[in-house]
Amino acid sequence: MYAVFGHPVAHSLSPRIHATFARQLSIPLDYRPIEATAEEFVGALADFADRGGRGANVTLPLKQNAARLCLSISERARRADSVNTLVRRGEGWHGDSTDGTGLIRDISGRHHLYVRGRRTLLLGAGGAARAVAFALLDAGISDLTIANRTPEHADTLADAIGQPERVHTRYWNDLGNWGGFDLVINATSAGHSNAPLNLPSSLLAARAICYDLSYSTASFGFLAWARSIGAEHALDGLGMLVEQAAEAFEIWHGQRPETDAIYAELRAYLPGNAED
Ligand code: ATR
Repeated sequence: MYAVFGHPVAHSLSPRIHATFARQLSIPLDYRPIEATAEEFVGALADFADRGGRGANVTLPLKQNAARLCLSISERARRADSVNTLVRRGEGWHGDSTDGTGLIRDISGRHHLYVRGRRTLLLGAGGAARAVAFALLDAGISDLTIANRTPEHADTLADAIGQPERVHTRYWNDLGNWGGFDLVINATSAGHSNAPLNLPSSLLAARAICYDLSYSTASFGFLAWARSIGAEHALDGLGMLVEQAAEAFEIWHGQRPETDAIYAELRAYLPGNAED
């Protein structure tokens, strides 16, 4: 018995993705969305465990809450201060974070692009940004520049990472004075409210990748900007969603599912199915 907790969670694609994986590997699976606010989460999770829950995904806005209530936590989840995958171990929950790995697998495994050595700009400094920052550094980007609407939050994230020789912060309004980025990651939530990011056109090096952690309509604004200034690759986060799910599935069931079929299915199902 498995579930995804979030608020709102009704439109989550995770039940569909995990059902596809389970069918592929002939594993019987009960995986349901469970709606829970931050206040309701502890009770809802305890109730789920009482009913035999063995594992769960956690999505917005509960990933930090989940990190707090685990009895044990993986190193990557501790650093990210984020848990998106819960595994029942004895009387408690073990927490892991598969978002960062999902991003790297999508860029390198699906799109066959390398991450190593890229000068990287991370837009945003909230939970999503933190969840991928460490994975990008581990994957070998040359350096990480963090810009955030509220500069103090960028400084807090840079301090938490603690690699001053590789991690810098810049004022958002000052980004026009910087450029030469090979990889630009949009980890802001601006696309969800259709808010424009107002980014300068001078940011990219030749052959740059622009990647939005969101997918579907929430990614359209950033990806349109990326194409308009000549990004060689403008990618949304659909592949990351599928890869983080595959990683969670393997943690729970000990088998790694194939992800291309469900990726193609969701790409065709969601609005704006173009990809480059
Ligand atoms: P998530 O879990 O999706 O990362 P979050 O932790 O609330 O959500 O973080 C949202 C991020 O998007 C923050 O970096 C936020 O900037 P602030 O720290 O200034 O709040 C950023 N963000 C949200 N709306 C934005 C906008 N319209 N323009 C630029 N950044 C925005």
